[in-house]
Amino acid sequence: MMSSLFSAGTIGDRTVPNRFAAQAMEGNDGEGGKPSERTLDRYRNLARGAWGLVISEALSVSETSLARVNGLILNRKNLDAFKGLVEVFRRENQDSLLFFQLTHSGERSGAFSDRTSLTKSSGELRLLSGDELETIKNSFIEAALLAEEAGADGIDFKMCHGYLGAEMLRPSNRRQDKWGGSFENRCRLLREGVEAIRQKRRSPRFILGSRLSLYEGIRGGCGTGGPDEIIEDLSEMYEVVRLMDNLGMDYVNVSAGIPALTGAITRPTEPSKYLAYHHLRYTKGVKDLLRRENRGLKVIGSAYSSYKAEAPAIMQEMLDKGYVDFCGFGRQIFADPLTPKKYRTGEPVNWCVLCSGCSRLMAAQLNDGCVVYNDYYKSVMKSNR
Ligand SMILES: Cc1cc2nc3c(=O)[nH]c(=O)nc-3n(C[C@H](O)[C@H](O)[C@H](O)COP(=O)(O)O)c2cc1C
Ligand code: SF4
Repeated sequence: MMSSLFSAGTIGDRTVPNRFAAQAMEGNDGEGGKPSERTLDRYRNLARGAWGLVISEALSVSETSLARVNGLILNRKNLDAFKGLVEVFRRENQDSLLFFQLTHSGERSGAFSDRTSLTKSSGELRLLSGDELETIKNSFIEAALLAEEAGADGIDFKMCHGYLGAEMLRPSNRRQDKWGGSFENRCRLLREGVEAIRQKRRSPRFILGSRLSLYEGIRGGCGTGGPDEIIEDLSEMYEVVRLMDNLGMDYVNVSAGIPALTGAITRPTEPSKYLAYHHLRYTKGVKDLLRRENRGLKVIGSAYSSYKAEAPAIMQEMLDKGYVDFCGFGRQIFADPLTPKKYRTGEPVNWCVLCSGCSRLMAAQLNDGCVVYNDYYKSVMKSNR
């Protein structure tokens, strides 16, 4: 039963010790954009949990467009603090890979932040200029190089969940300049960003990946066939996957939905738990394409917490059929950061119960974590009822 789950895999030319991936999960507990002691504890625990790979929570490449009031910012000023985070992780674990997820929050920036839009200025949303987009692209490149300098093994270029990267890719991005309209223009941030990072990175072993929402569930969103369409049509997202492979990237992290708008798709809850099966279909679709075209990009899946204690069996089935390379858990890393280690040794695992408590804390701009198994977050929830 355990053989596939704990078999080694590869991304780029790096070995990944097992198939459990800790997905990016914001804790909203930084201090001045740097990891706090609480943040460091989270990564220490994940290192102890022996996940095959750990993707950090979203790190903003911008100081001014943050989704969370205590969000983390990866810039030169904060570099030493991120070196500290990698050190904390490495002290416990030398085998697992650690990637930094890079983001710009765009339209999803918090009310306390500079709220911008790619396509319209309305209400409090300010239209981003072409020059600003060039600056943002350069910030992604700079942040990726800082991630490498800090000691991370790679990056996850965030193009999902309704943040700026996803706004860019959407068919409804009808900007008239070089950042919108044609498919080529809508991929410019990813394409030019990744090309520059590949050229400038110190080591070719530094891993490059990106997280996509294959289908966002909004009209004109990613995974539809046109600016006014709602029906799922993945052909263009498959083109993005091909582009990533052509760019020499190492993995695609497959997700779906926009947590703030179509959250049940991204992170199914008890009443919507069957939506998780769409994630299995999405990764299978991407793997089928990659296999058919003999492409080497690796695939990380999402939303495995939704299966609770049945997750390892579903992982096993997906891995054995060749429908995914690594299985990503979001909420489960909060519920029990030691999951892979415990599962391997037969210790009881605290399975996420899909109560949405952590999401509610995050939406309220509070420190967020598991309100079922962790006393600190129980108390945060209680004192803010
Ligand atoms: C509290 C919370 C914070 C999250 N933070 C991030 C993030 O920083 N970056 C990201 O790509 N996804 C983020 N997600 C989405 C998760 O990575 C994951 O895709 C989602 O929870 C579904 O997976 P699961 O069923 O395993 O939880 C977050 C989700 C939650 C609930
Ligand atoms: S708070 Fe609820 S949804 Fe979040 S990790 Fe804990 S059990 Fe899962």
